[in-house]
Amino acid sequence: MDYKHVLITGGAGFVGSNLAIKLKTNFPKLTITCLDNLKRRGSELSIKRLKDTGIEFVHGDIRNQEDLVFENIDLLIECSAEPSVLAGINSSPDYLINTNLIGTLNCLELARQHNSHVLFLSTSRIYPMSYINDLAFTETPTRFEIKDTQKISGASSRGIAEDFPLDAPRSLYGATKLASELFLTEYMDNYGIKGINNRCGVITGPWQMGKVDQGVFVLWVAKHYFKQKLSYIGYGGEGKQVRDFIHIDDLYKAIETQLQNFGDYQGKTYNIGGGLENSISLKELTKLCQEITGNTISIESIKENRPADLRFFIADSTKFLKQSKLSWQKDARATVIDIYNWIHENEDSLKSILS
Ligand SMILES: NC(=O)c1ccc[n+]([C@@H]2O[C@H](COP(=O)([O-])OP(=O)(O)OC[C@H]3O[C@@H](n4cnc5c(N)ncnc54)[C@H](O)[C@@H]3O)[C@@H](O)[C@H]2O)c1
Repeated sequence: MDYKHVLITGGAGFVGSNLAIKLKTNFPKLTITCLDNLKRRGSELSIKRLKDTGIEFVHGDIRNQEDLVFENIDLLIECSAEPSVLAGINSSPDYLINTNLIGTLNCLELARQHNSHVLFLSTSRIYPMSYINDLAFTETPTRFEIKDTQKISGASSRGIAEDFPLDAPRSLYGATKLASELFLTEYMDNYGIKGINNRCGVITGPWQMGKVDQGVFVLWVAKHYFKQKLSYIGYGGEGKQVRDFIHIDDLYKAIETQLQNFGDYQGKTYNIGGGLENSISLKELTKLCQEITGNTISIESIKENRPADLRFFIADSTKFLKQSKLSWQKDARATVIDIYNWIHENEDSLKSILS
């Protein structure tokens, strides 16, 4: 790894803290600083994990340029966000826009001042909702499936690829991320900043503070673990909505590969998601959670769709996987087992957050 000083914004969050700890463990000579305003409930638990690994924690807010003063940075990994697709829908979008767009711009400014590399965590939510929900599909007893032949470009049974059209609404959350992607492109073009843009689907694994509007995988395992209730919301209320997921260990491997070969990936946008092989419906996830936790819980059926929900999302990550020659190692069972073990080992500190 050619870097010396790495700054991870949102570094006490699920993705930021896990990337920081894995990078420091694998490359002990790196100096890593994690900045976070601890807005996400449970992120405070990361402070000890980071310090124990030799990572500096700075309590700061990317909305404030005054908080973004550092002597040396040669790599910035931008992981801070209000990551919920429901943010701003029935409330003010101020926090969402000020963090996910203005805050990201502040981070790009920091990168410009230091001429550092930038790795940006974008989202599959930049793809328009109506186009995804209009895709031709079939229905099996447990899930919705995307048909192989579609009228629209960039869609097949393998999922949504990078050339899927972008000219329709995608949620306020998705819009802040797409706008940030555009500014990253402009910073690269105008100022010669070198960056990589990763559009991630559902990422999951230990240390994700799953809640109803973000982190569904952990939410599902935790509710089974603590024997509480869940609901299948929308699309008939049968839990047939499908998402692909990538385990945080696989995401780390993808990012480590990019960082070690930055020149090969810079200036490009990649979908990074579990894909068709690592996709699961809520109904299928319930079965897995029952098997692994040994608990069966009550799941209410609500037929009406929730705002900003999708029938399915599967990322077609062929571009990245072909270039990197990587394949994902953690399937649904391995992922649920990892989350289960993490909850079990940290039950006391997690109970009030996840249940
Ligand atoms: N987890 C997923 O499934 C997923 C999927 C696609 C993209 N992403 C993106 O990955 C990145 C990391 O997401 P995550 O899952 O780790 O979310 P997270 O909520 O666990 O982490 C985000 C962190 O940012 C911090 N934060 C929020 N506002 C801040 C601010 N103004 N200043 C400083 N820190 C602030 C929060 O306290 C939190 O610790 C985000 O950009 C998110 O949009 C996540």
